[in-house]
Amino acid sequence: MHIAMVGSGYVGLVSGACLADFGNIVTCIDTDEKKIEALQLGKIPIFEPGLQELVANNVRQQRLFFSTDLAKSVSDVQAVFIAVGTPSRRGDGHADLSFVYQAARDIAAGIKGFTVVVTKSTVPVGTGDEVERLIRETRPGVDVAVVSNPEFLREGAAIADFKRPDRIVIGVEDARAEAVMKEVYRPLYLNQAPFLVTSRRSSELTKYAANAFLATKITFINEIADLCEQVGANVQDVARGIGLDKRIGSKFLHAGPGYGGSCFPKDTQALIKTAQDFGSPIRIVETVSAVNDQRKRAMAKKVLAACGGSVRGKHVAILGLTFKPNTDDMRDSPAISIITALQDHGATIHAFDPEGMDQARQVVSNLTYFEDAYSCCAGADALVIITEWDAFRALDFSRLKTLMKAPILVDLRNIYDTEDMRQHGFVYRSVGRK
Ligand SMILES: NC(=O)c1ccc[n+]([C@@H]2O[C@H](COP(=O)([O-])OP(=O)(O)OC[C@H]3O[C@@H](n4cnc5c(N)ncnc54)[C@H](O)[C@@H]3O)[C@@H](O)[C@H]2O)c1
Repeated sequence: MHIAMVGSGYVGLVSGACLADFGNIVTCIDTDEKKIEALQLGKIPIFEPGLQELVANNVRQQRLFFSTDLAKSVSDVQAVFIAVGTPSRRGDGHADLSFVYQAARDIAAGIKGFTVVVTKSTVPVGTGDEVERLIRETRPGVDVAVVSNPEFLREGAAIADFKRPDRIVIGVEDARAEAVMKEVYRPLYLNQAPFLVTSRRSSELTKYAANAFLATKITFINEIADLCEQVGANVQDVARGIGLDKRIGSKFLHAGPGYGGSCFPKDTQALIKTAQDFGSPIRIVETVSAVNDQRKRAMAKKVLAACGGSVRGKHVAILGLTFKPNTDDMRDSPAISIITALQDHGATIHAFDPEGMDQARQVVSNLTYFEDAYSCCAGADALVIITEWDAFRALDFSRLKTLMKAPILVDLRNIYDTEDMRQHGFVYRSVGRK
């Protein structure tokens, strides 16, 4: 099949490369000329494990192409995917759909013959209707079917998630389009990946409901962790105790500094807004979002407490800046709020992240960056682990103790054992544990 992918970011590039790997001819399109130029030169603009090789291989096999020319790239394809960003709209938290609508108009101008337009971006209920209306308004009489196909991949494991998804959700109201979508995902269909065909609106809502549920699970365990600290319980034991119940499940029960990233914060906000607009507020998600917002900045208090009540004039070393390991994505990372709060309290910040420092430079100011964990910690009054990169899971604490001014570790991901840290002679604070 010939496929066009409009938007070549974390989702578009991974989806385009994977669809090419299935044997389709795919063109990834973007309005960002620098991004497309880089891709044409074999440079991958983001960090995603395995993506460099996957892209290079499919380019070599002449199945994957990059272009800024949308009209030309969509003119002879069976399916066009929209994978552009849907950030929070400034001011009100609704999803900003301007990129989606612009893409829809541009696609309308370029397509010839029957074309399936697939919204892969995360979009509020009813967006498919508006995309269809815009296309028909731009090109009356055009033969098109608009489908919803939300993406559930996780950054850091995106290729495996795309190729072995828990499910594929297709919101479709047109039999021809359903057949095209089944053909697109045929390699996965044969692997028996559950293929769920629903109405367009159900599909759109499924994506938000999934993210809101996961955000709720994280926030639930975070609040249980706070209670554990008050009553002298251990959140990891409690999480295991509930997670082994199959009705609950053990995933997303790791207490930490609050969820961040490019999806959960904006998607919970957008769902809250949609629900309010339709007169059916989802109060549980409203609470989750409010609790999580406060939590990120409040993590700085843990650092203050570990440092004897103040960080003024002190050097705090931060390991891990991205919102999770194995990505360079800094969007809404908890590190941003925590670092800003520590700076507000007078701390000087030294930081290291294996992949996130380029993006961090654009969103947090007044940091000094280092090229490895140990140089970052030299002379520090305290060390804070914000993101649990593998590289931070087996630090040499004897070395750190000689390098740091004071042996204080605030571990916001609970990756170390409290007793081990005591034996290393560290003042150790974690989340939801004594
Ligand atoms: N990042 C994730 O983990 C993830 C997971 C599932 C779903 N999603 C959803 O997928 C969508 C894309 O997310 P992302 O993280 O890939 O965003 P991104 O910001 O990394 O990429 C979006 C790309 O679209 C391009 N673009 C914008 N308008 C365009 C247009 N009119 N024509 C062509 N290109 C255009 C931008 O230049 C950018 O490169 C969002 O709706 C997001 O919520 C993201």
